Amino acid sequence: QQRAATSVEPSKMNAGVKVLTESTDLKSIPSEFSFVNEPTGSYSDSIPIIDFSLLTSGNPDQRSKVIQELGKACEEWGFFVLVNHGIQETLMKATIEGALEFFDLPEDEKRKYEAKHVSDPHQTYVRPEFHYPRKPQNLREIIFEYAERSRFVARTLLQGMSENLGLEEGYVEEILKLDSMFQLFAVNYYPPCPQPDQAIGLPPHTDHGLLTFLIHNGVAGLQIQHNGKWFNTNSPQNSILVNTADQLEIFSNGKYKSVKHRAVVNNQATRISVVIANGPAPDAIVGPASPLVQRDGRPLYRPFKYIEYVETQLSNTVDGKVNLDYAK
Ligand code: SIN
Ligand code: FE2
Repeated sequence: QQRAATSVEPSKMNAGVKVLTESTDLKSIPSEFSFVNEPTGSYSDSIPIIDFSLLTSGNPDQRSKVIQELGKACEEWGFFVLVNHGIQETLMKATIEGALEFFDLPEDEKRKYEAKHVSDPHQTYVRPEFHYPRKPQNLREIIFEYAERSRFVARTLLQGMSENLGLEEGYVEEILKLDSMFQLFAVNYYPPCPQPDQAIGLPPHTDHGLLTFLIHNGVAGLQIQHNGKWFNTNSPQNSILVNTADQLEIFSNGKYKSVKHRAVVNNQATRISVVIANGPAPDAIVGPASPLVQRDGRPLYRPFKYIEYVETQLSNTVDGKVNLDYAK
């Protein structure tokens, strides 16, 4: 797996697997990518599907129904497939295509965008400058637009979730400072693998933000943990796979679940996934929402500054560690 990340805040690019598969006649799995396959659960039909348009349609009955479904999805699965989200199909396609083109850049060009640290001051804020490859052309504009649309969708979902948690309207927005949301944009590249049952694309992990959005090039590969089993996911074209991430588990005082997931590989086709992690503002203080702590009798997590959480998590890399321990 090759992971390239940038963000509407920081930018980070890694290179590796693409070169490895192109420069060698790969017949077996280098040890860092090997894993032991475990039994998987049945296919994704039971992952909840959420119709975003019902949240914004102005029909109060539809809205409260979908808010209930959202809450249930976050409690029971920590994942859902989002349809009718209003982000144009052409923009989603352009994002995937741009990502593909990025991986075709020469290796030294890609490495210029490798950041050692998520909050590296040289590569950080979009405003006033956004550090991103000049090539492929337009990728920067595409990412900006996709990130902007995603922010709107994420904030709308979070308002619905806030309502589902029994919090006052606007509580989430205010406490987590969602008007300056931190977004990390990452692109994953998984070439076909000769021994897919012995390799892992991306090891099990949870995500650090509030809500992660994932789209891909039509090749499935994301598995999520549910009731102790790994479930394959496949999302219909033009839908977004959304997962509840660590900050939402913390904020909801454990009611919503940040679920482990991983990426598997196949021996047929290259898979590209594009991920946007939507988080609180970097300087927001995250912790269990006070009204929920009062109701539950005790906080399950301690408060901390969001950017510190991100930095700790990224320096641990993804190795199956439970990042949530940081907040205990
Ligand atoms: C991720 O969890 O960051 C990506 C997983 C995937 O590529 O499906
Ligand atoms: Fe993830």
